[in-house]
Amino acid sequence: MTAKHFLQLSDFERGELEYLFERTRWIKDRFKRYEAYQPLRDRTLAMVFEKASTRTRVSFEAGMNQLGGIAINLNRHDTQLSRGEPIEDLARVISRMVDVVMIRTFEQSIIERFAAHSRVPVINGLTNEYHPCQILADIYTYIEHRGSIEGKTVAWIGDSNNVCNTWLQAAAIFGFKFHVSTPPGYEVDPTFAGLRGGSHFRSFADPLAACRGAHLVTTDVWTSMGFEAENDERKRAFSDWMVDARMMAQAAPDALFMHCLPAHRGEEVAGEVIDGPQSVVWDEAENRLHAQKALLEYLVCGRVDRPDSR
Ligand code: CP
Ligand code: NVA
Repeated sequence: MTAKHFLQLSDFERGELEYLFERTRWIKDRFKRYEAYQPLRDRTLAMVFEKASTRTRVSFEAGMNQLGGIAINLNRHDTQLSRGEPIEDLARVISRMVDVVMIRTFEQSIIERFAAHSRVPVINGLTNEYHPCQILADIYTYIEHRGSIEGKTVAWIGDSNNVCNTWLQAAAIFGFKFHVSTPPGYEVDPTFAGLRGGSHFRSFADPLAACRGAHLVTTDVWTSMGFEAENDERKRAFSDWMVDARMMAQAAPDALFMHCLPAHRGEEVAGEVIDGPQSVVWDEAENRLHAQKALLEYLVCGRVDRPDSR
């Protein structure tokens, strides 16, 4: 099986990610001018969702349609997965029928097993460990607003989850500093984060200290999907880790705020921040569409050297 997959951000080299950002800009500009671009005519994306989704579902389905293809949505409950069909068999079958697959599931090992038996590219649409499509859109959004992220400082406040782990990979790839502040007991797990050496990563007990001088402050829910049983305990542990105006005041004056969404105002972020002037969360969400269209184009068609000739 030689298909190229996007299971973690670090599956791609920096040059490939930068190519995707160029393509994202080109695809987005064209979309904004209402000019059709359909390199994936007659191609099919299968989407497998084992967890809920709004943005990932809509951006992949709309994106695939806009590129001229179609998307098929599969939930655990509608498929034979719910009756114990092995993930390897699902991969063998689906990948004979479609051109690319997106999966949102639990452990990273599930998507790795799928990919190992797939004839076509597999995209991670979120696992317990990583959310690479999100960070693709987030870095693109940063570049769009502020230019290169290299050498900048990103502050992560809250849970050291799948989105945090992927930011950590991005810090090593793009060369920026990643400051993390979590409550005790919720620190970054270097194994999940794939942390190699610590030069891009610094941990802070005090969230205000983590935000000091940051060019971007970002956070995510205190309880990720699959961890709902810990919700009450987490609400107590995380109560001092809400990104509010006090934290934003520690950051650089032109710092941006991002959140992958869905957000809980009054928990991980104050309304004054997410709905305030430094927040770019709606651009961030929209860019999921454009960045994933670039990703789909790359995985199905390879590099497109002369896009205007298509
Ligand atoms: N940010 C994100 O992945 O959102 P959904 O869970 O709605 O897809
Ligand atoms: N960390 C969150 C992200 C949701 C998009 C979760 O896994 O539920």
